[in-house]
Amino acid sequence: MTKKQVLIFDTTLRDGEQSAGAGLTTHDKLEVARYLDLLGVDIIESGFAASSPADFEAVRTISEEIQRPTIASLARCNFKDIDSAWDAIKNAQNPRIHVFISSSDVQIWHQLKSNPEEVLDLAISSVQHARQYCEDVEFSPMDATRTDPQYLYALLEAVIKAGASTVNIADTVGYSIPSEFGKLINSVRKNVPSINKATISVHCHNDLGNASANSISAIENGATQIEGCINGLGERAGNAALEEVIMTIETRQQKLGVHTNIDTTKLFRTSRLVSDIFGFPIQANKAIVGANAFRHASGIHQDGILKERTTFEIMSAESIGWPSNSLVLGKLSGRAGLKSRLEELGYRLSKDQLNQTFTEFKLLADRKREVTDADLEALMSSQRDAANTLTMYALDTIQVTCGNHQTPTATITIIDPEGNPHTNTSTGTGPIDAVYKSINSIVNVANELTEFRVEAVTEGIDALGGVTVRIAHEGNTYVGRGSDTDIIIASAKAYLNGLNRLLSATSLKN
Ligand code: KIV
Ligand code: ZN
Repeated sequence: MTKKQVLIFDTTLRDGEQSAGAGLTTHDKLEVARYLDLLGVDIIESGFAASSPADFEAVRTISEEIQRPTIASLARCNFKDIDSAWDAIKNAQNPRIHVFISSSDVQIWHQLKSNPEEVLDLAISSVQHARQYCEDVEFSPMDATRTDPQYLYALLEAVIKAGASTVNIADTVGYSIPSEFGKLINSVRKNVPSINKATISVHCHNDLGNASANSISAIENGATQIEGCINGLGERAGNAALEEVIMTIETRQQKLGVHTNIDTTKLFRTSRLVSDIFGFPIQANKAIVGANAFRHASGIHQDGILKERTTFEIMSAESIGWPSNSLVLGKLSGRAGLKSRLEELGYRLSKDQLNQTFTEFKLLADRKREVTDADLEALMSSQRDAANTLTMYALDTIQVTCGNHQTPTATITIIDPEGNPHTNTSTGTGPIDAVYKSINSIVNVANELTEFRVEAVTEGIDALGGVTVRIAHEGNTYVGRGSDTDIIIASAKAYLNGLNRLLSATSLKN
């Protein structure tokens, strides 16, 4: 029997970007979209074009650069949103307009201050308007799982007749449980006469932790498109984690009778890239991609694994592209060794990029006995940041004194975008406070530090410290990252990176 294909609709760049504290630039989004393309997702929801000029720009750029997958933009049920969505995606090879409107009484009456008849009319006219531009139109009844089923069926029938080619049953508030959600999908199939003319999609939120299970239950009941985000990002508790849904389909193909076109060996890298770019760490016990997902601690399990892997593993680490870690580099390693290891990790560098990386690698290897894969990932992350950020204030020198009988003092020299050096000395409540005050007095842009996180990138006393900061400016959040064997330097790099991103974004706006 041929297995039906389940389409994977990735909304990391739209719903995922609604995660509190996310703050991506167009470059960041393009980078994520490239990885999603390599991963093999069928549809990339690249943003919500009408929501801001920055989102419009990101959707437009991705539409022009990424050829293979369908590129979708979200739009509310109004002509202005739909026009803007089309304007942003019109150059895509395979464009899709995704319109949505609330369908539950609670949202229709209290949020929209409307009524079910008006919503039905708006849904129909919006789908018709979108169809004038594009054959591929998706319609989402928002809060479908708390919607009166009879109204839901009528709404779905009407939008399919109006030209929607995909209908997306959204569990917007993560209220449903798997058996109930499966039944809803089944009842949609039975009670919407034109349903065979459309793809049934589902979009599950994770407020009760059921998003992936609800998505799988939907597949068992006939859904053929799953929406979700890498690492389960998304509004509030997030969306279905795509790596979980994909690996469930992969691992339980016989039972589910479906397949995807995903290259599962790209999951690990995509997950790490998304975590890095969004600045949201992955919990160690996260299914599929957490640091402990393939680690066996119990003696009994280790014994079993050594005898036969499948005793305690239902999938292999290699199947999701976990790096083998067989080669550790050091200060005697050459360019060829570095190139080969980076290629194994999935990085294909030009000659110039390799030269630049090799210089950074040598500096790191001088300070660290062993340079591991995690160190290389951190190195590549800072190179990506440097390439993706427009206005560059660069750290030149930094000197800090502190101690239990001393006022923490930092002296910093920073090179401005015109190449001029600026030096400042400041004191603070601690060394990092002194460093940040010093940077602020040179860069001089109003901002509030809303998050500061330090973690060890690798193990051991010579570990690289990774610092992530979030800074707020005029209602927007910007993420900054930096890594170094010295956490004060890593902190300075992270803060400057965040400020550079802020300045890049605001200079684009002006
Ligand atoms: O959660 C939701 O309902 C959404 C829609 C816009 C599909 O994100
Ligand atoms: Zn959502």
